[in-house]
Amino acid sequence: MSEIIIEGSRRLTGELTVQGSKNSVLPILAATVTARGENVIHNCPYLSDVEAALEILRKLGCKVKREGHTVTVNSETVTSSEISESLMHEMRSSVMFLGAILGRTGKAVLSAPGGCEIGLRPIDIHISAAEQLGAELTEKCGKLSFRIPNGLRPANITLPFPSVGATENLLLLASVTQGTTVIHNAAREPEIKDLADFLNLCGARIANAGESTVYITGVKELHSAEYTVMTDRIAGCSYLLAAAVTGGSLRLNNLKPAHIGAVIPVLREMGCSIVTERNSVLLNAPERLKRVRIIRTMPYPGFPTDIQAPMTAALSVADGTSAVIENIFESRFKHTGELVRMGAVIHTEGRIAVIEGVRTLCGARVRARDLRGGFALITAALKAQGKSTVTGAEHIYRGYEEPEKVLASLGAEIKKVDKNGRKTN
Ligand code: UD1
Repeated sequence: MSEIIIEGSRRLTGELTVQGSKNSVLPILAATVTARGENVIHNCPYLSDVEAALEILRKLGCKVKREGHTVTVNSETVTSSEISESLMHEMRSSVMFLGAILGRTGKAVLSAPGGCEIGLRPIDIHISAAEQLGAELTEKCGKLSFRIPNGLRPANITLPFPSVGATENLLLLASVTQGTTVIHNAAREPEIKDLADFLNLCGARIANAGESTVYITGVKELHSAEYTVMTDRIAGCSYLLAAAVTGGSLRLNNLKPAHIGAVIPVLREMGCSIVTERNSVLLNAPERLKRVRIIRTMPYPGFPTDIQAPMTAALSVADGTSAVIENIFESRFKHTGELVRMGAVIHTEGRIAVIEGVRTLCGARVRARDLRGGFALITAALKAQGKSTVTGAEHIYRGYEEPEKVLASLGAEIKKVDKNGRKTN
Protein backbone atom coordinates (compact mmCIF):
# COMPACT_ATOMS: atom_id res chain seq x y z
CA MET A 1 0.00 0.00 0.00
CA SER A 2 1.24 3.50 -0.72
CA GLU A 3 -0.04 7.00 -0.03
CA ILE A 4 0.26 10.33 -1.76
CA ILE A 5 0.53 13.41 0.44
CA ILE A 6 -0.33 16.82 -1.00
CA GLU A 7 -0.14 20.30 0.45
CA GLY A 8 -2.84 22.06 -1.56
CA SER A 9 -3.49 25.56 -2.95
CA ARG A 10 -0.39 25.71 -5.18
CA ARG A 11 -0.86 27.03 -8.72
CA LEU A 12 0.40 24.54 -11.35
CA THR A 13 2.24 25.91 -14.37
CA GLY A 14 4.60 24.50 -16.94
CA GLU A 15 4.78 21.97 -19.74
CA LEU A 16 4.77 18.20 -20.07
CA THR A 17 5.58 15.41 -22.44
CA VAL A 18 2.79 12.97 -21.63
CA GLN A 19 3.46 9.25 -20.96
CA GLY A 20 2.68 6.47 -23.43
CA SER A 21 -0.90 5.22 -23.49
CA LYS A 22 -1.86 2.50 -21.00
CA ASN A 23 -4.90 1.49 -23.02
CA SER A 24 -2.79 1.18 -26.14
CA VAL A 25 0.30 -0.54 -24.79
CA LEU A 26 -1.69 -3.32 -23.08
CA PRO A 27 -3.36 -4.73 -26.23
CA ILE A 28 -0.14 -4.16 -28.22
CA LEU A 29 1.80 -6.23 -25.68
CA ALA A 30 -0.91 -8.92 -25.96
CA ALA A 31 -0.51 -8.78 -29.74
CA THR A 32 3.18 -9.66 -29.47
CA VAL A 33 2.06 -13.21 -28.54
CA THR A 34 0.63 -13.61 -32.06
CA ALA A 35 3.42 -11.67 -33.77
CA ARG A 36 6.16 -14.34 -33.91
CA GLY A 37 9.71 -13.19 -33.27
CA GLU A 38 11.35 -10.24 -31.54
CA ASN A 39 9.00 -7.27 -31.12
CA VAL A 40 10.42 -3.94 -29.99
CA ILE A 41 7.85 -1.65 -28.38
CA HIS A 42 8.85 1.94 -27.57
CA ASN A 43 7.14 4.43 -25.23
CA CYS A 44 5.94 1.77 -22.75
CA PRO A 45 5.07 3.62 -19.54
CA TYR A 46 6.14 2.30 -16.12
CA LEU A 47 2.74 1.26 -14.74
CA SER A 48 1.72 -1.67 -12.57
CA ASP A 49 -0.74 -2.81 -15.27
CA VAL A 50 2.10 -2.89 -17.81
CA GLU A 51 4.30 -4.86 -15.40
CA ALA A 52 1.41 -7.34 -14.93
CA ALA A 53 1.14 -7.70 -18.73
CA LEU A 54 4.90 -8.35 -18.96
CA GLU A 55 4.56 -11.01 -16.26
CA ILE A 56 1.76 -12.68 -18.25
CA LEU A 57 4.02 -12.68 -21.34
CA ARG A 58 6.83 -14.31 -19.33
CA LYS A 59 4.46 -16.96 -17.96
CA LEU A 60 3.31 -17.72 -21.51
CA GLY A 61 6.93 -18.45 -22.39
CA CYS A 62 7.99 -15.17 -24.07
CA LYS A 63 11.43 -13.66 -23.47
CA VAL A 64 10.82 -10.14 -22.15
CA LYS A 65 13.36 -7.38 -21.62
CA ARG A 66 12.79 -3.78 -20.52
CA GLU A 67 15.34 -1.02 -21.13
CA GLY A 68 13.82 2.26 -19.96
CA HIS A 69 10.63 2.84 -21.92
CA THR A 70 11.48 0.22 -24.56
CA VAL A 71 10.25 -3.33 -24.09
CA THR A 72 11.45 -6.23 -26.22
CA VAL A 73 9.21 -9.30 -26.42
CA ASN A 74 10.41 -12.41 -28.18
CA SER A 75 7.37 -14.64 -28.69
CA GLU A 76 9.13 -17.37 -30.70
CA THR A 77 9.29 -19.38 -27.46
CA VAL A 78 5.57 -19.33 -26.44
CA THR A 79 4.84 -22.60 -24.65
CA SER A 80 1.75 -22.00 -22.50
CA SER A 81 -1.89 -21.09 -23.27
CA GLU A 82 -2.93 -20.35 -19.69
CA ILE A 83 -3.08 -17.18 -17.58
CA SER A 84 -3.10 -17.88 -13.85
CA GLU A 85 -6.01 -16.71 -11.73
CA SER A 86 -3.82 -14.34 -9.71
CA LEU A 87 -2.59 -12.51 -12.84
CA MET A 88 -6.12 -12.38 -14.29
CA HIS A 89 -7.28 -10.74 -11.05
CA GLU A 90 -4.51 -8.19 -11.08
CA MET A 91 -5.66 -6.63 -14.32
CA ARG A 92 -8.91 -6.73 -16.24
CA SER A 93 -7.08 -6.19 -19.51
CA SER A 94 -5.70 -9.69 -19.18
CA VAL A 95 -8.87 -10.70 -21.09
CA MET A 96 -7.12 -8.95 -23.97
CA PHE A 97 -4.82 -11.94 -24.19
CA LEU A 98 -7.75 -14.21 -25.18
CA GLY A 99 -7.67 -13.40 -28.90
CA ALA A 100 -3.86 -13.35 -28.99
CA ILE A 101 -3.34 -16.70 -27.22
CA LEU A 102 -6.15 -18.43 -29.13
CA GLY A 103 -4.81 -17.11 -32.44
CA ARG A 104 -1.30 -18.28 -31.67
CA THR A 105 -1.84 -21.63 -29.90
CA GLY A 106 -5.40 -22.71 -30.83
CA LYS A 107 -6.48 -22.77 -27.17
CA ALA A 108 -6.65 -20.45 -24.16
CA VAL A 109 -7.37 -20.97 -20.47
CA LEU A 110 -8.38 -17.91 -18.44
CA SER A 111 -10.48 -17.06 -15.38
CA ALA A 112 -12.85 -14.14 -14.77
CA PRO A 113 -10.81 -10.90 -15.10
CA GLY A 114 -10.05 -8.38 -12.32
CA GLY A 115 -9.32 -4.64 -12.62
CA CYS A 116 -11.06 -1.54 -11.28
CA GLU A 117 -14.19 -2.04 -9.23
CA ILE A 118 -16.36 0.29 -11.28
CA GLY A 119 -19.15 -2.05 -12.25
CA LEU A 120 -19.86 -5.65 -13.20
CA ARG A 121 -17.54 -5.60 -16.22
CA PRO A 122 -18.73 -8.87 -17.79
CA ILE A 123 -16.91 -10.42 -20.76
CA ASP A 124 -19.91 -11.82 -22.63
CA ILE A 125 -19.19 -9.74 -25.76
CA HIS A 126 -15.60 -11.05 -25.90
CA ILE A 127 -16.82 -14.64 -25.56
CA SER A 128 -19.58 -14.34 -28.15
CA ALA A 129 -17.16 -12.72 -30.64
CA ALA A 130 -14.62 -15.54 -30.22
CA GLU A 131 -17.38 -18.12 -30.62
CA GLN A 132 -18.52 -16.53 -33.86
CA LEU A 133 -14.99 -17.06 -35.21
CA GLY A 134 -15.14 -20.75 -34.27
CA ALA A 135 -13.99 -20.92 -30.65
CA GLU A 136 -15.70 -23.23 -28.19
CA LEU A 137 -15.89 -22.48 -24.47
CA THR A 138 -16.15 -24.85 -21.54
CA GLU A 139 -16.40 -23.49 -18.03
CA LYS A 140 -15.44 -25.36 -14.87
CA CYS A 141 -14.92 -23.97 -11.36
CA GLY A 142 -14.40 -20.40 -12.67
CA LYS A 143 -11.89 -21.55 -15.31
CA LEU A 144 -12.74 -20.60 -18.89
CA SER A 145 -11.20 -23.00 -21.42
CA PHE A 146 -11.38 -22.03 -25.08
CA ARG A 147 -10.40 -24.26 -27.99
CA ILE A 148 -10.97 -24.26 -31.72
CA PRO A 149 -12.29 -27.73 -32.62
CA ASN A 150 -12.92 -27.10 -36.33
CA GLY A 151 -10.55 -24.27 -37.19
CA LEU A 152 -11.15 -20.51 -37.26
CA ARG A 153 -13.72 -19.16 -39.75
CA PRO A 154 -14.39 -15.55 -40.76
CA ALA A 155 -17.68 -13.93 -39.73
CA ASN A 156 -19.86 -10.86 -40.01
CA ILE A 157 -20.09 -9.71 -36.40
CA THR A 158 -22.27 -6.96 -34.96
CA LEU A 159 -21.26 -6.00 -31.44
CA PRO A 160 -24.23 -5.28 -29.12
CA PHE A 161 -22.15 -2.41 -27.63
CA PRO A 162 -18.93 -0.89 -29.05
CA SER A 163 -16.76 -2.54 -26.39
CA VAL A 164 -13.13 -1.42 -26.63
CA GLY A 165 -11.69 -4.67 -25.31
CA ALA A 166 -13.94 -6.92 -27.41
CA THR A 167 -13.10 -4.95 -30.58
CA GLU A 168 -9.38 -5.36 -29.80
CA ASN A 169 -9.76 -9.08 -29.10
CA LEU A 170 -11.53 -9.49 -32.42
CA LEU A 171 -8.76 -7.63 -34.29
CA LEU A 172 -6.24 -10.00 -32.72
CA LEU A 173 -8.09 -13.22 -33.52
CA ALA A 174 -9.49 -12.26 -36.93
CA SER A 175 -6.00 -11.20 -38.10
CA VAL A 176 -5.06 -14.90 -38.25
CA THR A 177 -8.48 -16.19 -39.40
CA GLN A 178 -8.41 -17.01 -43.12
CA GLY A 179 -11.02 -14.99 -45.07
CA THR A 180 -12.53 -11.57 -44.33
CA THR A 181 -14.16 -10.80 -41.00
CA VAL A 182 -16.30 -7.67 -40.71
CA ILE A 183 -16.98 -6.00 -37.34
CA HIS A 184 -20.03 -3.75 -37.18
CA ASN A 185 -20.54 -1.32 -34.28
CA ALA A 186 -16.82 -1.56 -33.46
CA ALA A 187 -15.33 0.74 -30.82
CA ARG A 188 -13.67 3.79 -32.43
CA GLU A 189 -11.17 4.77 -29.71
CA PRO A 190 -7.76 5.97 -31.03
CA GLU A 191 -6.18 3.03 -29.17
CA ILE A 192 -8.02 0.65 -31.55
CA LYS A 193 -6.33 2.34 -34.49
CA ASP A 194 -2.97 2.19 -32.67
CA LEU A 195 -3.34 -1.58 -32.18
CA ALA A 196 -4.39 -2.04 -35.82
CA ASP A 197 -1.39 0.02 -37.00
CA PHE A 198 0.91 -2.29 -35.02
CA LEU A 199 -0.81 -5.43 -36.33
CA ASN A 200 -0.62 -4.15 -39.92
CA LEU A 201 3.12 -3.60 -39.46
CA CYS A 202 3.25 -7.27 -38.41
CA GLY A 203 1.64 -8.31 -41.71
CA ALA A 204 -2.07 -8.15 -40.76
CA ARG A 205 -4.58 -6.73 -43.23
CA ILE A 206 -6.95 -4.53 -41.23
CA ALA A 207 -8.86 -1.74 -42.96
CA ASN A 208 -10.93 1.07 -41.41
CA ALA A 209 -9.81 0.63 -37.79
CA GLY A 210 -11.05 3.59 -35.76
CA GLU A 211 -14.35 3.56 -37.67
CA SER A 212 -17.59 1.72 -36.84
CA THR A 213 -17.14 -0.94 -39.50
CA VAL A 214 -13.77 -2.67 -39.62
CA TYR A 215 -12.58 -5.21 -42.23
CA ILE A 216 -9.98 -7.80 -41.35
CA THR A 217 -8.59 -10.15 -43.96
CA GLY A 218 -6.82 -12.97 -42.18
CA VAL A 219 -3.24 -14.01 -42.92
CA LYS A 220 -1.57 -17.31 -42.05
CA GLU A 221 0.67 -15.82 -39.38
CA LEU A 222 2.02 -12.51 -38.14
CA HIS A 223 5.68 -11.56 -37.89
CA SER A 224 7.31 -9.26 -35.33
CA ALA A 225 7.70 -5.48 -35.64
CA GLU A 226 9.11 -2.36 -34.01
CA TYR A 227 6.52 0.18 -32.89
CA THR A 228 6.06 3.35 -30.79
CA VAL A 229 2.94 3.48 -28.61
CA MET A 230 0.73 6.59 -28.90
CA THR A 231 0.45 9.29 -26.19
CA ASP A 232 -1.96 8.66 -23.29
CA ARG A 233 -4.88 11.01 -23.98
CA ILE A 234 -6.50 10.17 -20.62
CA ALA A 235 -3.34 10.99 -18.62
CA GLY A 236 -2.96 14.16 -20.73
CA CYS A 237 -6.52 15.29 -19.92
CA SER A 238 -6.05 14.41 -16.26
CA TYR A 239 -3.05 16.75 -16.01
CA LEU A 240 -4.93 19.51 -17.86
CA LEU A 241 -7.69 19.26 -15.24
CA ALA A 242 -5.13 19.21 -12.40
CA ALA A 243 -3.67 22.48 -13.71
CA ALA A 244 -7.13 23.95 -14.41
CA VAL A 245 -8.42 23.35 -10.89
CA THR A 246 -5.52 25.38 -9.45
CA GLY A 247 -6.10 28.28 -11.84
CA GLY A 248 -2.84 27.39 -13.57
CA SER A 249 -1.54 26.93 -17.09
CA LEU A 250 -0.16 23.85 -18.84
CA ARG A 251 1.21 22.96 -22.24
CA LEU A 252 1.10 19.30 -23.36
CA ASN A 253 3.83 18.87 -25.95
CA ASN A 254 2.81 15.58 -27.55
CA LEU A 255 -0.97 15.18 -27.58
CA LYS A 256 -3.14 15.29 -30.70
CA PRO A 257 -6.00 17.71 -29.89
CA ALA A 258 -8.39 15.54 -31.95
CA HIS A 259 -7.90 12.74 -29.41
CA ILE A 260 -9.50 14.90 -26.69
CA GLY A 261 -12.02 16.52 -29.03
CA ALA A 262 -14.96 16.02 -26.64
CA VAL A 263 -13.08 17.42 -23.63
CA ILE A 264 -11.76 20.67 -25.15
CA PRO A 265 -15.22 22.32 -25.52
CA VAL A 266 -16.01 21.40 -21.91
CA LEU A 267 -12.76 22.99 -20.69
CA ARG A 268 -13.68 26.11 -22.68
CA GLU A 269 -17.17 26.13 -21.15
CA MET A 270 -15.41 26.05 -17.77
CA GLY A 271 -13.70 29.32 -18.70
CA CYS A 272 -10.29 27.92 -19.78
CA SER A 273 -8.52 29.27 -22.81
CA ILE A 274 -7.31 26.39 -25.01
CA VAL A 275 -4.89 26.83 -27.89
CA THR A 276 -4.23 23.79 -30.05
CA GLU A 277 -1.54 23.01 -32.57
CA ARG A 278 -1.11 19.83 -34.62
CA ASN A 279 0.44 17.89 -31.75
CA SER A 280 0.10 20.10 -28.68
CA VAL A 281 -2.47 21.64 -26.36
CA LEU A 282 -2.03 24.76 -24.24
CA LEU A 283 -4.44 25.50 -21.38
CA ASN A 284 -4.79 28.69 -19.36
CA ALA A 285 -7.32 28.48 -16.54
CA PRO A 286 -9.22 31.36 -14.89
CA GLU A 287 -8.95 32.09 -11.15
CA ARG A 288 -12.15 30.10 -10.61
CA LEU A 289 -13.63 27.54 -13.03
CA LYS A 290 -17.23 27.89 -14.24
CA ARG A 291 -19.86 25.20 -14.00
CA VAL A 292 -20.81 23.00 -16.97
CA ARG A 293 -24.49 22.50 -17.74
CA ILE A 294 -24.33 18.75 -18.40
CA ILE A 295 -21.73 16.13 -19.32
CA ARG A 296 -22.67 12.68 -20.63
CA THR A 297 -19.98 10.00 -20.90
CA MET A 298 -20.18 8.13 -24.22
CA PRO A 299 -18.10 5.78 -26.34
CA TYR A 300 -15.42 7.63 -28.39
CA PRO A 301 -15.66 10.23 -29.89
CA GLY A 302 -17.97 11.17 -27.00
CA PHE A 303 -16.82 12.40 -23.59
CA PRO A 304 -14.55 9.68 -22.10
CA THR A 305 -15.75 7.83 -19.01
CA ASP A 306 -12.11 7.75 -17.86
CA ILE A 307 -12.15 11.56 -17.49
CA GLN A 308 -15.47 11.68 -15.63
CA ALA A 309 -13.90 11.32 -12.16
CA PRO A 310 -11.18 14.01 -12.46
CA MET A 311 -13.77 16.26 -14.15
CA THR A 312 -16.19 15.75 -11.24
CA ALA A 313 -13.42 16.80 -8.86
CA ALA A 314 -12.71 19.95 -10.88
CA LEU A 315 -16.42 20.85 -11.08
CA SER A 316 -16.75 20.47 -7.31
CA VAL A 317 -14.99 23.85 -6.93
CA ALA A 318 -16.52 25.53 -10.00
CA ASP A 319 -18.83 28.51 -9.81
CA GLY A 320 -22.35 27.05 -10.14
CA THR A 321 -24.06 23.67 -10.39
CA SER A 322 -23.08 20.99 -12.93
CA ALA A 323 -24.58 17.61 -13.84
CA VAL A 324 -22.70 14.50 -14.95
CA ILE A 325 -24.31 11.37 -16.40
CA GLU A 326 -22.18 8.20 -16.47
CA ASN A 327 -23.41 6.07 -19.36
CA ILE A 328 -20.58 3.52 -19.67
CA PHE A 329 -19.99 1.97 -16.23
CA GLU A 330 -22.72 1.53 -13.61
CA SER A 331 -20.73 2.25 -10.43
CA ARG A 332 -18.23 4.88 -11.32
CA PHE A 333 -19.03 7.50 -8.66
CA LYS A 334 -17.14 5.95 -5.75
CA HIS A 335 -14.82 8.97 -5.58
CA THR A 336 -17.73 11.35 -4.86
CA GLY A 337 -18.13 10.14 -1.25
CA GLU A 338 -14.46 10.97 -0.62
CA LEU A 339 -14.80 14.37 -2.34
CA VAL A 340 -17.72 15.13 -0.01
CA ARG A 341 -15.40 14.40 2.94
CA MET A 342 -13.21 17.22 1.59
CA GLY A 343 -16.17 19.61 1.58
CA ALA A 344 -17.61 19.06 -1.91
CA VAL A 345 -21.41 19.12 -2.35
CA ILE A 346 -22.30 16.25 -4.69
CA HIS A 347 -25.58 14.33 -4.90
CA THR A 348 -25.55 11.04 -6.78
CA GLU A 349 -28.52 8.99 -7.86
CA GLY A 350 -27.71 5.91 -9.96
CA ARG A 351 -25.80 7.11 -13.00
CA ILE A 352 -26.30 10.84 -12.31
CA ALA A 353 -24.21 13.21 -10.20
CA VAL A 354 -25.26 16.78 -9.45
CA ILE A 355 -22.32 18.89 -8.31
CA GLU A 356 -22.89 22.19 -6.50
CA GLY A 357 -19.59 24.00 -6.78
CA VAL A 358 -18.06 25.28 -3.53
CA ARG A 359 -15.34 27.92 -3.15
CA THR A 360 -12.82 25.80 -1.28
CA LEU A 361 -12.18 22.21 -0.25
CA CYS A 362 -10.41 21.16 2.94
CA GLY A 363 -7.45 18.80 3.01
CA ALA A 364 -8.41 15.35 4.38
CA ARG A 365 -7.36 11.72 4.52
CA VAL A 366 -9.21 10.06 1.63
CA ARG A 367 -9.09 6.65 -0.01
CA ALA A 368 -8.67 5.86 -3.71
CA ARG A 369 -10.82 2.88 -4.72
CA ASP A 370 -10.13 2.84 -8.44
CA LEU A 371 -7.65 4.29 -10.91
CA ARG A 372 -9.41 7.38 -12.27
CA GLY A 373 -11.29 8.00 -9.02
CA GLY A 374 -7.86 8.04 -7.35
CA PHE A 375 -6.64 10.77 -9.70
CA ALA A 376 -9.85 12.71 -8.96
CA LEU A 377 -8.82 12.79 -5.29
CA ILE A 378 -5.37 14.12 -6.25
CA THR A 379 -7.08 16.80 -8.38
CA ALA A 380 -9.23 17.87 -5.42
CA ALA A 381 -6.27 17.77 -3.02
CA LEU A 382 -4.27 20.11 -5.28
CA LYS A 383 -6.99 22.73 -4.85
CA ALA A 384 -7.82 22.05 -1.17
CA GLN A 385 -6.56 24.16 1.69
CA GLY A 386 -4.07 22.27 3.85
CA LYS A 387 -2.73 18.76 3.72
CA SER A 388 -4.45 15.76 2.11
CA THR A 389 -3.40 12.12 2.21
CA VAL A 390 -4.65 9.89 -0.59
CA THR A 391 -4.45 6.26 0.54
CA GLY A 392 -4.86 3.28 -1.79
CA ALA A 393 -2.48 5.05 -4.18
CA GLU A 394 -1.55 1.71 -5.80
CA HIS A 395 -4.74 2.08 -7.86
CA ILE A 396 -3.36 5.33 -9.30
CA TYR A 397 -0.03 3.70 -10.27
CA ARG A 398 -1.95 1.25 -12.50
CA GLY A 399 -2.39 4.09 -15.00
CA TYR A 400 -0.21 7.11 -14.14
CA GLU A 401 3.57 7.00 -14.37
CA GLU A 402 5.17 8.77 -11.39
CA PRO A 403 2.32 11.29 -11.03
CA GLU A 404 4.00 12.80 -7.96
CA LYS A 405 7.09 13.70 -10.03
CA VAL A 406 5.01 15.04 -12.92
CA LEU A 407 2.91 17.25 -10.62
CA ALA A 408 5.92 18.37 -8.56
CA SER A 409 7.58 19.50 -11.81
CA LEU A 410 4.58 21.81 -12.30
CA GLY A 411 4.86 23.31 -8.81
CA ALA A 412 2.74 20.97 -6.67
CA GLU A 413 3.86 20.15 -3.14
CA ILE A 414 3.41 16.41 -3.29
CA LYS A 415 5.16 13.25 -2.19
CA LYS A 416 4.60 9.53 -2.32
CA VAL A 417 5.06 7.45 0.83
CA ASP A 418 5.40 3.72 0.32
CA LYS A 419 4.24 1.21 2.91
CA ASN A 420 7.53 1.06 4.80
CA GLY A 421 7.38 4.81 5.28
CA ARG A 422 9.95 5.78 2.63
CA LYS A 423 9.23 9.15 0.98
CA THR A 424 9.89 9.90 -2.69
CA ASN A 425 9.05 12.65 -5.08
C1 UD1 B 1 -11.57 0.08 -21.93
C2 UD1 B 1 -10.49 0.88 -21.24
C3 UD1 B 1 -11.05 1.63 -20.04
C4 UD1 B 1 -12.26 2.46 -20.45
C5 UD1 B 1 -13.27 1.63 -21.21
C6 UD1 B 1 -14.40 2.45 -21.79
C7 UD1 B 1 -8.53 -0.47 -21.67
C8 UD1 B 1 -7.44 -1.31 -21.11
N1 UD1 B 1 -9.45 -0.03 -20.79
O1 UD1 B 1 -12.03 -0.88 -20.97
O2 UD1 B 1 -10.03 2.49 -19.54
O3 UD1 B 1 -12.88 2.97 -19.29
O4 UD1 B 1 -12.61 0.96 -22.32
O5 UD1 B 1 -13.93 3.47 -22.59
O6 UD1 B 1 -8.55 -0.15 -22.84
N2 UD1 B 1 -19.22 -4.79 -21.44
C9 UD1 B 1 -20.07 -5.86 -21.37
N3 UD1 B 1 -19.64 -7.08 -21.86
C10 UD1 B 1 -18.41 -7.26 -22.40
C11 UD1 B 1 -17.54 -6.15 -22.48
C12 UD1 B 1 -17.97 -4.92 -21.98
O7 UD1 B 1 -21.20 -5.74 -20.88
O8 UD1 B 1 -18.09 -8.38 -22.82
C13 UD1 B 1 -19.64 -3.47 -20.88
C14 UD1 B 1 -18.79 -3.08 -19.69
O9 UD1 B 1 -19.26 -3.67 -18.50
C15 UD1 B 1 -18.94 -1.58 -19.70
C16 UD1 B 1 -19.02 -1.24 -21.19
O10 UD1 B 1 -19.41 -2.46 -21.83
O11 UD1 B 1 -20.13 -1.22 -19.06
C17 UD1 B 1 -17.72 -0.74 -21.79
O12 UD1 B 1 -16.72 -1.71 -21.65
P1 UD1 B 1 -15.48 -1.83 -22.65
O13 UD1 B 1 -15.62 -0.82 -23.75
O14 UD1 B 1 -15.31 -3.25 -23.02
O15 UD1 B 1 -14.30 -1.37 -21.71
P2 UD1 B 1 -12.92 -2.10 -21.47
O16 UD1 B 1 -12.37 -2.61 -22.76
O17 UD1 B 1 -13.02 -3.01 -20.32
